[in-house]
Amino acid sequence: AESVDDAVEAFRRGEPVLVHDAADREGETDLVYPAGSVTPEAVARMRNDAGGLVCVALSDAVSEAFDLPFVQAAVDHPLTDDHQLSYDDRSSFSLTVNHRDTETGITDAERALTITELAAASEDPDAEAFATTFRAPGHVHLLRAASSLAERQGHTELGIALAAAADLPPAVVVCEMLDDESGAELPPAAARAYADRHGLVYVEGAAIAERFA
Ligand code: 5RP
Ligand code: CA
Ligand code: ZN
Ligand code: ZN
Repeated sequence: AESVDDAVEAFRRGEPVLVHDAADREGETDLVYPAGSVTPEAVARMRNDAGGLVCVALSDAVSEAFDLPFVQAAVDHPLTDDHQLSYDDRSSFSLTVNHRDTETGITDAERALTITELAAASEDPDAEAFATTFRAPGHVHLLRAASSLAERQGHTELGIALAAAADLPPAVVVCEMLDDESGAELPPAAARAYADRHGLVYVEGAAIAERFA
């Protein structure tokens, strides 16, 4: 689909795109950025316009190099015994991190620093450098992608596929678009309208999966 090419082009320019996963999955539209392009203003946009959780998805290969676990596997606690996700086999949640040069890690500037440094680290994954550059817990959620779109088609993998197509490091930021009125996920038509208003690309997950699976 044309929108997939437009999304890849937008990523190459460092612009965010809107990705709707599927009506029979989460039914959410995430604002997705190449991690290397995230500025403090971009974090503010995610807080104010998107409103969901600001997460950085990393490819399976980079996550493996950084020894990043899945929360449900790493945390031995009754809460993680049955993960009970209704829309997928598993969650992609891994650790939360801050860059070591942050204080609280939550401000727009500090989250942008953590995020852009994650992109830089993903370009040349080195486990030792990862541990000396970041600490956990922190204020940016890491998501570990499956190794391919054939295996899982969450925003985690859809975003990583766009980064790969744009020849960018395998690190993307995703944040759910929520409706300010209802607090529910922003309906696809409203997400499309937001994209139009702001000159952004809106793309369906199915179109991305069809192209890159
Ligand atoms: C974390 C989430 C988001 O839905 C995010 O898009 C990652 O999850 P997935 O890959 O399952 O879509 O829940 O805020
Ligand atoms: Ca808002
Ligand atoms: Zn999602
Ligand atoms: Zn979600």
